[in-house]
Amino acid sequence: MKNNTKIINAGRAKKWTGNVVNPPVERASTVVFDTVKEMRHATANKTNQVLFYGRRGTSTSFAFSDAMVELEGGAGCALYPSGTAAITNAILSFIKAGDHLLMVDTAYEPTRDFCDKMLKKIGVETTYYDPLIGAGIEALIQENTAIIFLESPGSITMEIQDVPAIAKVAHQHGCIVMLDNTWGAAVNFQPFDYGVDISVQAATKYIVGHSDVMLGTATAVEKYWPQLRENSYIMGQCTSPDDLYLALRGIRTLGVRLRQHQESAIKIANWLAQRPEVETVLHPAFASCPGHEFFERDFNGSNGLFSFVLNRGNQKALTALLDGMTHFKMGYSWGGFESLILGISSVQSMRSVTEWQYKFPLIRLHVGLEDVDDLIDDLTAGFARFNQVLTEN
Ligand SMILES: Cc1ncc(COP(=O)(O)O)c(C=O)c1O
Repeated sequence: MKNNTKIINAGRAKKWTGNVVNPPVERASTVVFDTVKEMRHATANKTNQVLFYGRRGTSTSFAFSDAMVELEGGAGCALYPSGTAAITNAILSFIKAGDHLLMVDTAYEPTRDFCDKMLKKIGVETTYYDPLIGAGIEALIQENTAIIFLESPGSITMEIQDVPAIAKVAHQHGCIVMLDNTWGAAVNFQPFDYGVDISVQAATKYIVGHSDVMLGTATAVEKYWPQLRENSYIMGQCTSPDDLYLALRGIRTLGVRLRQHQESAIKIANWLAQRPEVETVLHPAFASCPGHEFFERDFNGSNGLFSFVLNRGNQKALTALLDGMTHFKMGYSWGGFESLILGISSVQSMRSVTEWQYKFPLIRLHVGLEDVDDLIDDLTAGFARFNQVLTEN
């Protein structure tokens, strides 16, 4: 099946849908049994998508987990109340005191915070590494390195990692390879084809796609699936069937949404590359983006999220640009149908082992599904406000 067909069919097995098109919302804490035999059956099959107790899931979550495995691959998919919970629980499920973790320097900020604040407290040491290190990661692997964590493209600065090169070395040393695949959105990057063992996503972003649900997923290869499933269960992770219903709805338009996000974002990125105020465009599909060759080699497509760096300006001018936007609202998220903008003046403060080479602010855009000409007009007016402040000073 091609991706577009998979997107339509994923998680819609008859056992979940019955005679209607979508898997219904099945809400439950308590599951009741009429006989001891039925209860024993449920207990024996509680890890095998048989109704047992609400925290183990209901048909809605079984359908959604199946959908994620059909799209992203792996042997199973654990569900969490946020992308951050998926990241922290996936790591905690496979780490113990005295272990060492290699974390990409361009990780999403709360992932770093988790390492620096929580893992440190339980005696796990984190070493950050350059996202472009590739097979050179071998030099950083220690006897006690348990996990190598990747995020590709990197948060904010968009570096693409050589996932198979890192995975190969990791496996030679017995390390687990975890990837934050949120940008890949299950269909644009197939993690298990490139050596990833556990792939986490903030389904909050493109899977849900409508900015109205927090949700996390972790898919795993057969070898690690039982441990991920059981340890996440022990830590009490579960999700609301109403939210999962919305996520299943979101999946149905994932393909068309991503194609439109991609088309509009590439048009805007090309337009930005010609603007006199722009130093560089950090869009994975552009040669100017570090690691672009790995995007070309490994990805099926892009989406609406990318960054660009200014070649002039100050905080006042940046504020004037951001404050008056009509369509690009400011918000710490992405992946919904709407456009978003984020101005960042302090990239270096988010990194510890890589040097940020640019002097002026970075702007991250999430290009939504509005008409692209309206979005370009919005940015044009933003640059006019930006330049106005610079000429006045
Ligand atoms: C790359 C990435 N990973 C994980 C997360 C966390 O997701 P959530 O907000 O659902 O916890 C985000 C959120 O912005 C993200 O951008």
